Amino acid sequence: MVGLCRGPMPRCTCLHTVSTTEAACSSALTQHSERLHASARILGFQIPFSVAQIDQACRDVIKAQGLVEGYIRPIAWRGSEEMGVAAKATKINLAVACWDWGSYFPMEERLKGIRLCWAQYRRPDPMTAPCKSKATGLYMICTVEKHRSMDEGYNDALMLDWRGLVAEATGANVFFIKGNTLHTPIPDCFLDGITRRTVIGLAKNHGLEIVERQIRPEELAGFEQCFLTGSAAEVTPVSEIGEYRFTVGQITKTLMEEYSAFVRPKSAADRKLAVAI
Ligand SMILES: Cc1ncc(COP(=O)(O)O)c(C=O)c1O
Repeated sequence: MVGLCRGPMPRCTCLHTVSTTEAACSSALTQHSERLHASARILGFQIPFSVAQIDQACRDVIKAQGLVEGYIRPIAWRGSEEMGVAAKATKINLAVACWDWGSYFPMEERLKGIRLCWAQYRRPDPMTAPCKSKATGLYMICTVEKHRSMDEGYNDALMLDWRGLVAEATGANVFFIKGNTLHTPIPDCFLDGITRRTVIGLAKNHGLEIVERQIRPEELAGFEQCFLTGSAAEVTPVSEIGEYRFTVGQITKTLMEEYSAFVRPKSAADRKLAVAI
């Protein structure tokens, strides 16, 4: 992500998993393009293409690449016309990259539940970083932590926020389950993921209660199940976070299957659901 284009200028990205051209036509694509626009505005620049134009560019790239299932990443950035801190005279660029990418976490490990360690870096205070923007600069600590977790034999790391509360994984949001209630941190200093919101919708359809609240790390001892959500991670069960253990239970499995059907709609019912959420 950070390697896609180098330089000192603000850039933001937005990513979207696509499966067949059906998903590329979905409302999710527009939500991602809208977030790209919003991210740029937070960083102080205006993307010179409309949301509809970005959507269309994504569809064109998917078609040109002939991808059945893969990953698409529009990215916007300021050019290098100015070398100082001031960058007002730079041109605003937009690129759309698309590639074949299998499961973000190995499928056999997803089915067993992936293993997370605790991250050392924390999500920054909103007063110190533009945390509502999907800015590539915010991924520096995510990459460092992801690498650290892999070096230690884990799949990912769970990050706390600047206050020491549970935040998210390095590229995905987190949910916990106790009984029929889902608990997830309030996204007040990290990304309110599009998948997160979709999964909340799916869970509500099942009559599950959703509690968005501050979660202290020691509370993990009281949860039975845990999963991550993200465009790449989809719904990924978690079996372990540091000293805490979780089972891959029925609610997690149901949401995993339903989200998969949501992004790969095969039946009329799945398509209806995709439109409803
Ligand atoms: C840091 C971070 N948090 C959460 C998410 C999940 O967001 P979304 O569901 O919109 O993909 C992502 C996805 O890229 C991410 O990078």
